[in-house]
Amino acid sequence: MADTTLMDKLVSLAKRRGFVFQSSEIYGGLGSVWDYGPLGVELKKNLKERWWRSMVHERDDIEGLDAAILMHPRVWEASGHVAGFTDPLIDCKICKNRFRSDDERIKGEPGTPTGQCPVCGNKGSLTEPRLFNLMFKTFMGPVEEAAAQIYLRPETAQGIYVNYLNVQQSSRQKVPFGIAQIGKAFRNEINPGNFIFRTREFEQMEMQFFVKPGEDHTWFEYWRARRMEWLVALGITPAKLRFHQHGPSELAHYAKDAYDIEYEFPFGWKEFEGIHNRGNYDLSKHQEFSGKKLDYLDTVTNERFVPFVVETSIGADRLALVTMMDAYAEEAVEGETRVVLRFNPAIAPIKAGVFPLVKKDGMPEIARKIYDDLRAQMPSFYDESGAIGRRYRRQDEAGTPFGVTVDGQTLTDQTVTVRHRDSMVQERVSADKLAAWLRERLGR
Ligand code: GAP
Repeated sequence: MADTTLMDKLVSLAKRRGFVFQSSEIYGGLGSVWDYGPLGVELKKNLKERWWRSMVHERDDIEGLDAAILMHPRVWEASGHVAGFTDPLIDCKICKNRFRSDDERIKGEPGTPTGQCPVCGNKGSLTEPRLFNLMFKTFMGPVEEAAAQIYLRPETAQGIYVNYLNVQQSSRQKVPFGIAQIGKAFRNEINPGNFIFRTREFEQMEMQFFVKPGEDHTWFEYWRARRMEWLVALGITPAKLRFHQHGPSELAHYAKDAYDIEYEFPFGWKEFEGIHNRGNYDLSKHQEFSGKKLDYLDTVTNERFVPFVVETSIGADRLALVTMMDAYAEEAVEGETRVVLRFNPAIAPIKAGVFPLVKKDGMPEIARKIYDDLRAQMPSFYDESGAIGRRYRRQDEAGTPFGVTVDGQTLTDQTVTVRHRDSMVQERVSADKLAAWLRERLGR
């Protein structure tokens, strides 16, 4: 499969099967904003739950938080986002198209009067680069004046920093400990695109780990290893994952050291998770700007210090794209092309499809009863329309790991056919043991 077409195929499958729709589609769409349909919302929820379980529920040293999207505007001055969260922007004076100055299409052209604008073809029409802040602004209260201007958060991390002592004291944690959060973030990206890869509204899953200064490098290496392990356990092809260490010119304004975890997309190796050693940049800035002490008292050594922060940050939407892309396969089966999403069963939106082979001989009634029992235990789907082969294919496209068919033999020995999505192998399972059989294979 040519890689350029993989993306088109995935976008079309996502729409056709209800994973992802363009926002406000009937109005022509809103640029780089997407909505999750019935299957997409389940996939993303499964990814978020799995992340939350591994960060918060399975550990004693990380607490959860759900901070508001809107924060005091001084937060973003302290964090450096008002001054530094900018992209250099170049406009074409004639066709009004906008480019980031590192855009491949205008390489070497800004400031050169002979430069040709890549969209309209005019020469010398590009402006000098200007800094453009990526934060969305809005107004709090009824008067639209500068004093009431606030921002939609561009990262969830700051909600954690300003609450770190609230969480530490209320949960009686001791450094080292972490705070995890899942929530929306907003960036007015200049060049969004590649479907849900770079959007203007997205969800982040971030964890900030507070450590004693000097122990930050050890924890940084610890989290780097844990995060790669988690992604591999999720079922992502290891050969399509790699680390990329930031060079001095790539480091964000807050970072001492940083690694991206990259996936090999059809449009190249790209970041979808970042592990950052943020030092004490954020906490000391909040201390300075708020005038409140944010140091930590180590009750064993009696030392006071502002903790260093090791952050892991992954986009839920970008991870959803990685899992869909990695799961997508096409196979020739009986002269037809079978499209299948080979999701890890734990993240599949639907766990089992239930089908009567034919709509007679009491098969629909038995299948319906099995479905009613199953859906109370796991997301399931009932389908009695069309040839059985077509019903299997529909579930293959949705990534459903198991197909359960009630057939002639069910009427005599109370067993059903269970078809495995990936191998298409079929086996017989006793109807009364089916739920337990599936739960065992789904790790539920
Ligand atoms: N708190 C650190 C932080 O926000 P980042 O590298 O700017 O770091 C972290 O973002 C992750 O958030 C990225 O690896 C990506 O998965 C996701 N992300 C960032 N910008 C995004 C966008 N415009 N659309 C979708 N996901 C985005």
